[in-house]
Amino acid sequence: MISGVTTEPAILDAMELTSDPELEARFAESAHRILADLVSGGAALGWVEPPSRDEVVDLLGHVVSAVRAGDAALRAAYLDRRLVGFGYWLRYARPTHRPHADLEKIAVDAAAHGRGVGRALTTALIADAREAGIEVLTLDVRGDNTHALHLYRSLGFSEYGRLPDFVAVGEHRYDKVFSMLDLRRQG
Ligand SMILES: CC(C)(COP(=O)(O)OP(=O)(O)OC[C@H]1O[C@@H](n2cnc3c(N)ncnc32)[C@H](O)[C@@H]1OP(=O)(O)O)[C@@H](O)C(=O)NCCC(=O)NCCS
Repeated sequence: MISGVTTEPAILDAMELTSDPELEARFAESAHRILADLVSGGAALGWVEPPSRDEVVDLLGHVVSAVRAGDAALRAAYLDRRLVGFGYWLRYARPTHRPHADLEKIAVDAAAHGRGVGRALTTALIADAREAGIEVLTLDVRGDNTHALHLYRSLGFSEYGRLPDFVAVGEHRYDKVFSMLDLRRQG
């Protein structure tokens, strides 16, 4: 299941994560730690204050239920058997938007940044979207998040709009950048 000492991240899907109750429980704990640490360090993940453990458990429960309904994909990355990142997309709920999905979060432990984990997670989630027949995969990024913008652009996402000075963190304002990957146009 999770391999031994590696340089390449092992990427698990939701079914693999939830097939083992102990692994699933540890996943929630570690995912909370990763998110809380990243938000404490100022990461652009939608929170101003670190989320509580219960909030993260509820969020992951919601995503796993959506995966079971065919409306989401969740991927987790392990390096040396340690959770170092995760990400997910959710199909849009609005009836007219149902063919499409939003890549809501990619989060990689700061200690593992720059080792290809974010790229491996995003690549796997794009493949999942393609397999699920998703037509357009969207995401949004805070305008100062240059690593994320570079990563998504390099994987084929293109910017389709921007809300200037929209994201509020205390007194600071940042652009909200909207990107999309049209899977209908690719082989
Ligand atoms: C954005 C994020 C997911 C990237 O994950 P990562 O595992 O560090 O990224 P990767 O190692 O796969 O590298 C992807 C690209 O990001 C850039 N990058 C990532 N970390 C970097 C670092 N520490 N220094 C310089 N460049 C870096 C690289 O340019 C790389 O592109 P390349 O392969 O062409 O060199 C990660 O930084 C993160 O979790 N950030 C905080 C949360 C966040 O902002 N999530 C995205 C919300 S939209």
